[in-house]
Amino acid sequence: MTSKNLPRTILIDTDTASDDAVALIMALQSPLVSVAAITVVAGNVSVEQATRNALYTAELCGSSVPIYTGAAQPLVRELQTADWFHGVDGLGDHAYAPAIRRPEPEHAVDAIIQTVMQNPGIEVITLGPLTNVALALAREPRIAANISRCVVMGGAPCCEGNVTPAAEFNIWVDPEAARTVFLSALPIEMIGWQLCRHQAALNAQDIATILALKTPRAEFAVRCNSRAAEAYHIQTGEHGISLPDPIAMAILLHPELSTSSTMHFVEIETASELTRGMTVVDRLGVVADLRNRNTWHEVQTRGRKTKVCWSLDIPGWKAALLDALR
Ligand code: BDR
Ligand code: CA
Repeated sequence: MTSKNLPRTILIDTDTASDDAVALIMALQSPLVSVAAITVVAGNVSVEQATRNALYTAELCGSSVPIYTGAAQPLVRELQTADWFHGVDGLGDHAYAPAIRRPEPEHAVDAIIQTVMQNPGIEVITLGPLTNVALALAREPRIAANISRCVVMGGAPCCEGNVTPAAEFNIWVDPEAARTVFLSALPIEMIGWQLCRHQAALNAQDIATILALKTPRAEFAVRCNSRAAEAYHIQTGEHGISLPDPIAMAILLHPELSTSSTMHFVEIETASELTRGMTVVDRLGVVADLRNRNTWHEVQTRGRKTKVCWSLDIPGWKAALLDALR
């Protein structure tokens, strides 16, 4: 068997709430990847609650993947959770039974460093604020060279944020961490929030098709997103279940689902409150111009270009999701 046929090794960093949980199911059910570790970070809910949710989801999949608890706070700011979106427990408040398994004793940041150093070429996907990854890079910058892809669910390259007009939640919660990661040598693929809207959200027919599978995973995927569906309607006026993290996971699993992407320098706003966490994309390639040299100096000299995904194969993404929930 050639390495082409072997499952690819991945690491998932997550602030496990309702859409993260569906993304975890997609990875844990996929024959294309082997999940070496799940590392948990504070974001949607506290890191303790997110860890409980990751453990619950892994058990639902019959998986014994190691799960590590990580940063409880952003690098320099107070944690702002999204319980208003995902429910107080992050899973729509349906009183799911606690998992039997406990998290591993090591810290998530140590687990990231160790797992990446032991698995050259590993693919990493981040589904939450970038605190754990920033801390891992600060402690062991050599991890960047061992990571072949770093798929980041985060950002709003079209500048339509979901927490502020300018910013998407994962980047907004810990912009300093996001900036560290975007300024690093990691090969980032940015899956922005705009990709999970409109036709990409699950409509009534999609939901009926999923529920008709009658599997515990299908039922859980819909039910744990009940609060998120209501919040999404209030936020955007759109009906349906919008699933940013599973879309990022679908692209990690099947890169061809990203139907157009381009390479750009990306800066993260950390100073202004108005645009905190904004992902500023140099779409026209003007940062080398004299007028931008000072502001963009660090990115140009230290960072590398980010692959920004602009469009998605929507039927392909929905088929990938359905497959995982069978
Ligand atoms: C992102 O923020 C969280 O609420 C979701 O889990 C997703 O990772 C979308 O902005
Ligand atoms: Ca998430």
